[in-house]
Amino acid sequence: MPKLGINIDHIATIREARHTVEPDPVWAASICELAGCHSIVIHLRQDRRHINDRDLEILRKTVRTRLNLEMSILSEIVSIACKVRPDQATLVPEKRAELTTEGGLDVCRYKGKVATALRRLKRRGILVSLFVDPNQKQIAASKDLNIDSVEIHTGLYANAKNEIKRRSELDRIREAVQQATELGLRVNAGHGLTYQNVRDVALISSVEELNIGHSIISRSVLVGLDRAVREMLTLIS
Ligand code: PXP
Repeated sequence: MPKLGINIDHIATIREARHTVEPDPVWAASICELAGCHSIVIHLRQDRRHINDRDLEILRKTVRTRLNLEMSILSEIVSIACKVRPDQATLVPEKRAELTTEGGLDVCRYKGKVATALRRLKRRGILVSLFVDPNQKQIAASKDLNIDSVEIHTGLYANAKNEIKRRSELDRIREAVQQATELGLRVNAGHGLTYQNVRDVALISSVEELNIGHSIISRSVLVGLDRAVREMLTLIS
């Protein structure tokens, strides 16, 4: 059974809708952990549209599972990560106008910049993962950088409009997982996963962790966060 990492950015999104203090992502993280999740994921974006520096600092002290910080390779953000030292940093591409991370990191194109960020983070003892598309070249380039793990982008699978497309995207994910595993990388997966589509990805052996945000936080608005987390844990097991 893969582990479950919960992205709690949307809790902070609700807070920022009113620039107030509630709901507090620190409380949400504790509820997720008490319900049995295996890690807490947050994305400190350059524009601080949801998670902010205060959240990161407090969560570093309070998270009892593992804190996985999604972040861009920008030097300023790398400096913050090096100071706060999350258990893991997941390097993602970041565009100001996007609603959410749109695609995997282009490791082939930005190899030098990724290598610099990687070196700085590793020096501080932080595990580093690269969020990549299920693409042979990107995975090979990640391996060349001597990375700890990759997170395979499941967005195209999640957004597939018909069964043929869904199956072909699932095959791409399976092939990417196999390639990465054979290269000795640890493999996680995430983006766009829901209570409806998670099963087939959870069944891919050697995927160690699924990182899920939107669907769990959305359900939690209606059924409560504890129940939403437990229902997802049941599904992926
Ligand atoms: N993994 C990565 C690298 C992400 O950027 C995100 C979105 O922040 C997720 C997983 C979770 O995606 P979703 O919110 O669609 O479940």
